[in-house]
This record gives sequence, C-alpha cells and structure tokens, in this order.
Amino acid sequence: MQRKMQEQELLKLIDRKKIPGHVAIIMDGNGRWARERGLPRSAGHKQGVESVRAIVRCSSQLEINVLTLFAFSTENWKRPPWEVNYLMNLPEQYLTSELPELVKNNVRVHFVGDPGRLPQQVCKAIGKGLEATRENTGMILNFALNYGSRAEITQAARKITQDVLAGKINSEFSESQFSAYLYTGRLRIPDPDLLIRTSGEYRISNFLLWQLAYSELWFTEVYWPDFNRMHLLQAIFDYQQRTRRFGSS
Ligand code: FPP
Repeated sequence: MQRKMQEQELLKLIDRKKIPGHVAIIMDGNGRWARERGLPRSAGHKQGVESVRAIVRCSSQLEINVLTLFAFSTENWKRPPWEVNYLMNLPEQYLTSELPELVKNNVRVHFVGDPGRLPQQVCKAIGKGLEATRENTGMILNFALNYGSRAEITQAARKITQDVLAGKINSEFSESQFSAYLYTGRLRIPDPDLLIRTSGEYRISNFLLWQLAYSELWFTEVYWPDFNRMHLLQAIFDYQQRTRRFGSS
C-alpha cells in the first residue's frame, strides 16, 4: 500500500515529455539475493525474471522507446554448466509466457549479441519473438545475449575493414558510419540515455562501451530480483533532474 502511494507520488513528479528514449539495464545481484535467503542461485534468477516482467510492463507504459536488458554476457559462459543451462532457458520461458502480452502491447522484441554460441533453443525463441512482434511500433525490448562490447567493436572493425578494402566505404569513415557496423547500429537503435545497474556494483562490465559515451549512469544497491517499478520511476526522476551537456559547457 505504501509502495503504491510512493509510486503514485513519483509518477506525479515525472515529466512525461522527458522520458529517456533508451534505457539500458545491467541486471545484477540475483546470486546474492538468493544467498541471503539461503536459496540456490537459480531462485535468484527465477525471481529476476519476475523483475523483468514488471520492468518491461512499466517501461512500455511509460512509453520508453527502447529497453535493453543485459541478460547474458560473453563472460557468463565461465559459470558452472548447470547455471549456464538455467540462464539459457530463461529467454524461452519468458517469451513463451509473455509473447501474447508483448504483441498486444505493441512491444517489438529485438536481440543484440553474437548468436554464434547460443543454443538453438534460444535462437529459436528469440526468432519467434522477433517474428511475432515484427509489425509492432511501440517499445523495442532488446535482449543482450552472449553480448560483449569489445567483441561487438572488434567485429565492427573487421567488417568495416573488409568494406574499405572492397571499396564500399571510404577509409576516412565517420563515427556515425562506424556506429552502423555495431549490433545496435544495424538495428538503428539510438544510444542509451540512461544506464541502470543494480546490486551496488559500480562497473560497466563490457556493456555497450561505445554507445554509453554520453549516457547518464544510475546505480542502486538494490538486487535485481528486488528491483521494481518504484526503483525505475526513481531512476527516471533522478535522470530528469540532471543536465546533459554532451561535452559542452
Ligand atoms: C547477474 O546476477 C545476472 C545474470 C548473469 C543473469 C541476468 C538474468 C536475468 C535477470 C533474467 C533474464 C531474463 C530473461 C527473460 C532473459 P549474478 O548471478 O551475477 O548475481 P551475483 O553477482 O549476486 O552473483
């Protein structure tokens, strides 16, 4: 009840004309959330999916244009096989239950990352999500899976070099031309306005290194499974109090 009231208060304070266009989230702290409750790490990930559900709904209602969620990094393969398997099942589980609602709410599913190493079942689930929401024009829900920013930049550099050698692009290419070779560029997704990281870690962890150049950063001690609408509203409210200068005085 008190949370609902706080939410209402925050909603009143938020300027609907200044909603960040692209919000990116490093969802962290699932393991610690579980450990503090004497539960297996999988319970933290399971509850993390509930936060995903709530935050996707809220973001779409707020008319955020793009929500990028860091769901699995290129470094996460180092986790024990059972945990990798568990995490790899989540996109399918989530999309199976949420796809009808995403379609109804005009949400478009997208993906950034290297599909190469992803199990077939993940590619299939994402492909189905992409296909079912292809015509939607509302919020883009962008899952970063097997995503690593250095890998993204490296593949972009390789591809642009090939195109320079093939005479398709001038070697004096611009920053924006280079951006088009990134996963996000190919999808025509603008850079994030706001980056949120949960769980009291103050790192970027190889996430959207190029794209975050001028993003506002917002950190919270709250573990991802406890992150709710109110925290998102708080982050957006704080974002709206900041002056973005993009390097000017
Ligand atoms: C980091 O917490 C979290 C992850 C590596 C996985 C994030 C995935 C989800 C929240 C669910 C994704 C949902 C969908 C629908 C794809 P951690 O395990 O590193 O936590 P710790 O740092 O406390 O150990």
